[in-house]
Amino acid sequence: MTEIESTTTDRMVEVSAETFVDRQESRSLGRDTLFGVSGLTVSYAGFPALADVTMDIHRNNITAFIGPSGCGKSTFIRCFNRLNDLIPSAKVEGTILYHGQDLYGPDVDPVEVRKLIGMVFQKPNPFPKSIYDNIAFGPRVLGMKDGLDERVERALHQAALWDEVKDRLKESALSLSGGQQQRLCIARCLAVNPEVILMDEPASSLDPISTTRIEDLMHELKRDYTIVIVTHNMQQAARVADMTAFFSVRVSEGDGRRTGILVEYDTTQKIFTTPGDKRTEDYVTGRFG
Ligand SMILES: Nc1ncnc2c1ncn2[C@@H]1O[C@H](COP(=O)(O)OP(=O)(O)OP(=O)(O)O)[C@@H](O)[C@H]1O
Ligand SMILES: [Mg+2]
Repeated sequence: MTEIESTTTDRMVEVSAETFVDRQESRSLGRDTLFGVSGLTVSYAGFPALADVTMDIHRNNITAFIGPSGCGKSTFIRCFNRLNDLIPSAKVEGTILYHGQDLYGPDVDPVEVRKLIGMVFQKPNPFPKSIYDNIAFGPRVLGMKDGLDERVERALHQAALWDEVKDRLKESALSLSGGQQQRLCIARCLAVNPEVILMDEPASSLDPISTTRIEDLMHELKRDYTIVIVTHNMQQAARVADMTAFFSVRVSEGDGRRTGILVEYDTTQKIFTTPGDKRTEDYVTGRFG
């Protein structure tokens, strides 16, 4: 037991060699940079919510963003598929390179970006349509009409939902359980062949069994996809993520404004066992936040 583990809190993380079983695999895959973030600041109505973030996101890794409420995790993850473009008061400064290209460059079409970089939200948000039509929606909109049945089936298999829904594809997606709906949303995301899946607290409204299924699914998916996840669940970050970024809030002495900052970014093992920053240690051991 390390000092961190011996601190008993509800957020305590039991860290063991098994927790990091996939580390070996990710090392052998190497750490290719997929996104290069530098000097990223996101403001709402002129006030920075997240300031000066610099970090790389690696291909075929699962990267977790953790930190207290309001530190800008959702703001940050939305930058990767340009969802903040849809918030009129939001302004993104700095750079995100994707495959070495400026994601916010003048020639980049945000719709194309969202095709390659899909997103799954905290609350499952199936369309009020059939299970089949939910999955077929993206491919239809994007004109991927050939082999639609096969595409739908493949996406449902990938999201580990096929066996549960194969006999009820015409039923409303709203008839599924919460955990099934979240896997449906993951399948909907996969159906358009993305390269990256962004997940903002994808399991926070699910029961433990559904959560485990989503985590198992993430392990499966990282062979083919790059995954970025926001989570408040420390055990979940420790179980699934290769790399973990800890964000916190800096409070301005003058006007008390709160701005999110990146405190520490490293392998998940390092963040949870021997973090370099006292603020990270206090957070992962539950002394703060
Ligand atoms: N659409 C928006 N318009 C204005 N301010 C926003 C908007 N979205 C977020 N903010 C502000 O930006 C800051 C960061 O919010 P954000 O949702 O990114 O935090 P978070 O780390 O995801 O928090 P939580 O853990 O509670 O989800 C907060 O102060 C929030 O009020
Ligand atoms: Mg959030």
